[in-house]
Amino acid sequence: MNRKYRKTVIAGNWKMNKTPSETKAFMTEFKAIMPKGRWCDVALCVPAVCIPAAVKAMRETRIGIGAQNCNANAAGAYTGEIAANMLVDAGCKYVIIGHSERRAAGETDADVNAKVHAALENGLIPIVCVGESLAQRETGITTEWVTLQIKSALDGIGEDQIRRIIIAYEPIWAIGTGKTATPEQAEEVCENIRTVVRKLFGAKIARAISVLYGGSMNEKNAYDLLAQPDIDGGLIGGASLVPEKFVKIIEAANQPTI
Ligand code: 13P
Repeated sequence: MNRKYRKTVIAGNWKMNKTPSETKAFMTEFKAIMPKGRWCDVALCVPAVCIPAAVKAMRETRIGIGAQNCNANAAGAYTGEIAANMLVDAGCKYVIIGHSERRAAGETDADVNAKVHAALENGLIPIVCVGESLAQRETGITTEWVTLQIKSALDGIGEDQIRRIIIAYEPIWAIGTGKTATPEQAEEVCENIRTVVRKLFGAKIARAISVLYGGSMNEKNAYDLLAQPDIDGGLIGGASLVPEKFVKIIEAANQPTI
């Protein structure tokens, strides 16, 4: 990370875990043990039905609540979908876009781009996910693939908007597998992401954008990953479901030694 130029962000992605009642219980526990004083930005992206409970519980804190998806349209006949302005009205600050689990269910690069636009237009901070499969890594096309995903996701984004975007590099083979990318592997791709942003938007913006790593990040490996110069935080699945583990990751990010 590089605190001088960009924000450190620790974000939890609960995926399809926890009910509203369980959310309330988590937040009570979490609030009791969360680090005091100055620390990095913290986000919790919870299931849509848990947003009201999470927002209510975190009202007096500096933790931002987020959603895990939004629809690109403003309103209309889209049964089961949720628009970006609804998330804002419900109290969300963040929205995860283009998670590989959603891409696997049919979300395309064009969908991701449309959702990034919708999120920004409504004032949400998009956490845009990119990452390669194991087959793609083994064929040696990781850089090309991730470059393509970034270019497509950021298509048509203005200079004033890019400053509010967070990018998350999540290699698919490391998600929920316990198989973390090594700090060097993660750094290599995150550095390349910054290079792509530099080519698109210039050095100043590239230096200021937060690039997170996600994929089996936990309380044990967080420090070494976050110590890499181009890894500005984490997008955490499993370990964000347990207050003690999530707090330890936040504490790792707050170490003055990195
Ligand atoms: P895990 O931390 O459970 O591997 O999940 C990572 C992830 O997909 C976060 O979005």
